[in-house]
Amino acid sequence: MSARFVCVVGARPNLIKAAPLLEELANRSIDCALVHTGQHYDQAMDRVFFDELRLPHPAAHLGVGSGSHGVQTAAALVGIEEWLVSHPVDGLLAVGDVNSTLAAALAAAKLRIPVIHVEAGYRSGDVGMPEEINRLVTDHISSLLFAPTDDAVDNLRREGIADDIIEQPGNLVAQAYLTHRSRALDQKPWTRFGLREEQFVVATIHRPESADSSEVLQKIISELEAVPYRVLWPVHPRTRAYFATTSLSNNIILTQPLPYLDMVGLVSRAACIITDSGGIQEEACLAGVPCVTVRKTTERVVTVKLGANRLCRPDAIATSVEESLESTRGWDAPARWDLGVASRMTNALSRLSGN
Ligand code: UD1
Repeated sequence: MSARFVCVVGARPNLIKAAPLLEELANRSIDCALVHTGQHYDQAMDRVFFDELRLPHPAAHLGVGSGSHGVQTAAALVGIEEWLVSHPVDGLLAVGDVNSTLAAALAAAKLRIPVIHVEAGYRSGDVGMPEEINRLVTDHISSLLFAPTDDAVDNLRREGIADDIIEQPGNLVAQAYLTHRSRALDQKPWTRFGLREEQFVVATIHRPESADSSEVLQKIISELEAVPYRVLWPVHPRTRAYFATTSLSNNIILTQPLPYLDMVGLVSRAACIITDSGGIQEEACLAGVPCVTVRKTTERVVTVKLGANRLCRPDAIATSVEESLESTRGWDAPARWDLGVASRMTNALSRLSGN
């Protein structure tokens, strides 16, 4: 009998990465159920992505929702364990680095179900980031590791992980981006905001160290006000409340979290990106658009090495944007960030399961 898998998702970035892989598995008739923890639940953070990316209906929705790290991870852990006990599988695909990823990996590993970590080996070196803890633990209890870059492979080797469980099939964020780019550009999403191609900046700020501090947010806002373009800022629910009482200069356009296709189109035609998100650093790199990452460190080091991305402090955004706009473009895409990522992953899964 052929192997059965389950793929666990919980938050917006997971959905983008899971989509090409689930499609490839379905095309090759490999059985893979989808379980959604419900970590993200707003229409704009969740349902829209299911529709646009044509994700299958989840076999289970655990309704975990928001909470402290302990509460959220524990609720997902309990829910996933219950599901796994009543639905035997031969492997669990844990995607990305969110709390749901860690919970899924823990539940499966303790039930002796092989864990396959999709997006293994990224390291920022900053254990103050909850995602760094999620990545470290997930990688060290997995049976197969899909690293998105060569430096992620090096990180895993440096931590003593055996070579024979590491694969570098490329990055699913890249496959999703390349799959949807032309459809996204056809929609010209910038026109809906009154913007002209390459005459605007897209900003996303959602990490707790920025989004949860009104002092840091205020600093970021004054820097964005000094950027020589209009700035389109899709606001994560974390920062929604802050803007209810804050007035902004009119070069900043606030909007709801945007659907995937809108983001792909906007990132592709922006003059520059300002972000603290992980996936957007990768999308900007593929789009050939310079990225300014408002963080002390990044796990997407490949984008910095290529000259596509630079790190900056919240009080240095405007200067970094200026430097970015003057910088040389035309960097290469990282190795295997292409349309064959899901296919290479599926080949590895077939070998694992003897399909
Ligand atoms: C999570 C991930 C982060 C990822 C991000 C993408 C962890 C530790 N963090 O951060 O790595 O980059 O998702 O967006 O897993 N909220 C809503 N509606 C929603 C979801 C969240 O209003 O649908 C609000 C709630 O106030 C919640 C807060 O956002 O408390 C934070 O949500 P949470 O899932 O804890 O983390 P994110 O900041 O979204």
